[in-house]
Amino acid sequence: MSHSIIFSFANQIEINSIQNLLTCEIGDIEIGQFPDEESHIRICSDVKNKQIFLIVDLAHPNCKLLDILFITNTLKKMGSKKIILIAPYLPYMRQDKQFHEGEIISANLFATILSPPIDGLITIDPHLHRIHHLNEIYPLASISTLHATKPIAKWILDNTNDPLLFGPDEESEQWLSEIASYTHCNYLIGKKVRLGDQKVTITLPRSIPAKKQIIIIDDIISSGASMLSLTKQLQTLSIAPISCITVHALFSRATYNKLIKVGLKSIVSTNTIPHFTNKIDVSPLIADEMMRLSTTFLV
Ligand code: R5P
Repeated sequence: MSHSIIFSFANQIEINSIQNLLTCEIGDIEIGQFPDEESHIRICSDVKNKQIFLIVDLAHPNCKLLDILFITNTLKKMGSKKIILIAPYLPYMRQDKQFHEGEIISANLFATILSPPIDGLITIDPHLHRIHHLNEIYPLASISTLHATKPIAKWILDNTNDPLLFGPDEESEQWLSEIASYTHCNYLIGKKVRLGDQKVTITLPRSIPAKKQIIIIDDIISSGASMLSLTKQLQTLSIAPISCITVHALFSRATYNKLIKVGLKSIVSTNTIPHFTNKIDVSPLIADEMMRLSTTFLV
């Protein structure tokens, strides 16, 4: 990694862990604001002829996108070689279809805006539903789609005792089936219908075996509506204490309190987004992929 340099934008947690795993120069960047709130950014490291990894936290992306575009365009102007954007959470992927006339398909547009100055993307469990591969919307030479299923499975094996795994909908089956195969736990899937941003109904399977513990797994918790609905229903059966694990923790403290109040014993997340529920570290996945790219795409 001698000709590479890593910059971080709003993602201090992961850059610290990655720095512990790789020998790589950390880029010096100053990010501030003028009194009128326009951005003032200065790249202080020499990036000429260097391969760049830029690790960003893209949760709540609207206020960050412009700064990221300023940074990536400037890195290119300063003579950097390839730029790999590391966005452990990739936003706007759920808006992949026009549901009503005039509605913006943000997944495609976000990709079109973000892509021009970058050469590659590393991300973890993007929400792929109607879009099956990121290269359908990101015109990039290198796209690495990593999965948090192994670190989640390891956490389950280390911290629980043969729980029943539960997914809220068919979409979650891709994660559940993989985690179940690593942990040898059984899993079940509900049927979800979303009636609005904050309103979902979930139908449970007919028979649910008695277990000591249930763990609900979903890729994203945002409004918490899916988790709330599923927890409430499983509670009425009183078969076992219920906890949950999510890859991307987008929810607020108020939503966390609501979920705990309704009966969830614990909520655990991976650190794709810095969050107070982070317990599962995905940095080793990212570091391995950075190493792989340094000997392939970045030579
Ligand atoms: C959607 O299909 C995803 O897999 C999640 O279930 C969803 O994004 C969770 O959102 P919320 O917490 O707002 O129900």
